[in-house]
Parts: sequence; C-alpha cells; structure tokens
Amino acid sequence: MRAAVLTEFGAPLTVQEMPDPVAGGGEVVVEVLASSVAPYAGEVFGGRRNYPLEPPVVPGLGGVGRVVSAGPDATRLRVGDLVWCDCTVRSRDDALTPDITLQGWSSRGEGGARLARYLHDGAYAELMRVPTENVYPLPAEAADDPARWCSVGVYTIPYGGLLAGGLEAGETLLVSGATGNLGSAAVAVALAMGAGRVITPGRNRAALGLLADRFGRRVRPVELTGDEDTDRTAMSAAAEGPVDMVIDLLPPAAPSSVTRAAAMTVREYGRVVLMGGVGMLGGADLALPYPWIMRNSVTVRGQWMYPRSASVGMIRLLASRALDLGPERVRAFPLDAVNDAVAYAAAHGGPFDRTVLTPPAG
Ligand SMILES: NC(=O)c1ccc[n+]([C@@H]2O[C@H](COP(=O)([O-])OP(=O)(O)OC[C@H]3O[C@@H](n4cnc5c(N)ncnc54)[C@H](OP(=O)(O)O)[C@@H]3O)[C@@H](O)[C@H]2O)c1
Repeated sequence: MRAAVLTEFGAPLTVQEMPDPVAGGGEVVVEVLASSVAPYAGEVFGGRRNYPLEPPVVPGLGGVGRVVSAGPDATRLRVGDLVWCDCTVRSRDDALTPDITLQGWSSRGEGGARLARYLHDGAYAELMRVPTENVYPLPAEAADDPARWCSVGVYTIPYGGLLAGGLEAGETLLVSGATGNLGSAAVAVALAMGAGRVITPGRNRAALGLLADRFGRRVRPVELTGDEDTDRTAMSAAAEGPVDMVIDLLPPAAPSSVTRAAAMTVREYGRVVLMGGVGMLGGADLALPYPWIMRNSVTVRGQWMYPRSASVGMIRLLASRALDLGPERVRAFPLDAVNDAVAYAAAHGGPFDRTVLTPPAG
C-alpha cells in the first residue's frame, strides 16, 4: 500500500510504499476512503506541539473506510461494510483507567506511548489496521460522500465535552472559542442536542456572523475586547439569564484569562468543561478562584476525547439530520498532495471548513 510518512519532525511528509497491514485477533483492516486533516496538523508535524509521536510514523486521525478483513472475534462486521474508524484507542487490560493513544497522532503517558508503538500508524494511507471496537458502521448514504462524513471525528470531540457536562435540552451553553474549528462544532452539536441558547464569544466578527446566520436566534454572539471583566459582563448579559454550562475549546496558545472570563459566567451549580488545552504550552495557570467554585457549588471538569458510546451517538445525530453536514465546506486532496492539504488546512481552520485526504482516488 501507499502511505504518507512523517520521517522526522519538521520534514514534509513523504508518500511511499509500505507493507499492507494484517489484522490480528481483535483488529480490523480498513481501506481508507477519507481522513481529516486538522488545521493544527502542521504544528504537530513541525514539532511545535511537542506531541509524543515517534517518527517514522503514518499520521492521521481516523477516517471513513471499508472493511477489508476482520479478526475472528468480530461477530457482526462484514467485509465491505462502510465504517467510521475512531482514532481513540484504549488499552484492554485496565477497565477503570485504560491507557490511551490517539492512533497516528498522540498519546498519554508511558502506557499510551507503549500502545502507540503497537498501533503505530494512522489513516494517511490506503489501508489501516484498527482495533475492532474502534470501528463503527455508517449509514449507506455516507458512501456518496465519505469526505463529508469525516466530520464525525470533528463533531465527536465537543460532543464528548457536552456529554461530560450533562447538557440538557433547553439549557443555555457558553462556548469559549466558538469561532474555532472545534468551538463552532460545539455550537452545532449543542443546538442539535436541543440547547435553548448558545453564547458565542469571539474576536472574529465575520466568523461570529457566520454562526448567527447559520443558526439564527438561538445563537448569541459576543465580540471580545480582551479585557477580562468587560468580556465576562458582556457574555453574561448576552445570556439574558443564567448560563447553565460552559465548554472551553480555546487552543493552548490562548491566554488563560480568556478561559477564566468565560468559565466565571456560569451560574450557581453550573458546570464548566475544559477541553482546549490552555496552559499546555506554558503561560499563566487558569487560576479559577477557590471561593468562587466553592460558594457557587460549581463543577469544573476536564475532558479528553469521549467515551466509546459517543461515536454511536454522533453518527445517530448525523444520520437523523438533527445535525446537518450539508453546510460544510469540504476540500479533498489526494494522498500525493498531503503536504498541500496540511498547508490548506492551516489556512482554512474556520467554522465548518474541512480539509480531507482521499487516499485511493488519486
Ligand atoms: N480535549 C480534547 O479531547 C481535544 C481534542 C482535540 C483538540 N483539542 C484542543 O482543542 C484546541 C482547539 O482546537 P481548534 O481546532 O478548534 O482550534 P482553532 O480552530 O485554532 O480555534 C481557535 C479559537 O480560539 C480562539 N482564540 C485563539 N486565541 C485567542 C485569544 N487570544 N483570545 C480569544 N480567543 C482566542 C479563536 O478565536 P478568534 O476567531 O477570535 O481568533 C478561535 O475561536 C486545539 O488547539 C487542541 O489543543 C482538544
């Protein structure tokens, strides 16, 4: 098979011949039809994100494919099935706190790194080997446009955060980083889940307008000034009532004060879910005031990715059209143009812009 390989951090990916993967027990080999290229992929491959990838490696964050072969313990999958391959791989020898690797992308701790050495390669290839439990059947209509259905991976991330925070229909949610790739996805998913109102702070007026145009009155844009107190007051005012939940999806480079201003809009007994990674690259800590958390009985929790059932829930939301993939702007690149795709993705990371690799089509 052919695959795009990161030979060392900072070098362009090279497309080369590699041996076809073989499915062992508990594994599936999938022909990759489409795989997303994240806007920050170039930062990962350039080494600027300090991700614990070990080159040479085929990167890629899961994708849409067809089952080529399955191990003997797969009881329902059939060769030819159209599937979503989720990159979130968990070790099988600890039910409570399994090690996790994002196959072909990242990992957590030494256990995650060990897992990543075994399930080393990701989706930027014609074929990929994935654990059986990471493969989810897709509706037949996904075959018409596999590149569009790669958005499953984008939407499931904020969906994991919204599930973690227990978002309920009719509630008011504030999305910190709403104009970003994942933040805008959080807005769309929350509305599909029945959120009554979504507060969308941001600095980019055009992106804020795009969210308001697409979703109408349930979205309440707030232009940020950079002043923590002013911004918190404006976000609270836009809610016209209590904010039940805040989800933060700002990138690591953003100042913690922006996350704090958003978090502190939440009501008494409200929930704050942290997903973006502010502080991961240094900078001031988030420093939410202890007395504020305690006196307001606020729940603050982090969320990395999502539980297994979230992929099923997300495919259900898309198949039922509760969440519509129609408005996505999808740009597909063949495998040979992988470096062009990485550059394009970096320049097109706004709301509902998707960059996808389509390995077999050429
Ligand atoms: N927890 C998880 O499971 C998980 C999974 C995947 C990724 N992540 C993390 O999620 C992060 C967000 O991803 P993404 O792709 O959505 O990033 P992105 O598209 O770059 O989003 C950037 C967002 O942050 C805002 N922002 C950046 N700097 C800001 C500042 N100084 N002040 C105010 N707003 C600022 C941008 O607002 P403007 O429009 O105003 O610029 C935009 O809304 C990633 O960086 C990654 O680390 C987490």
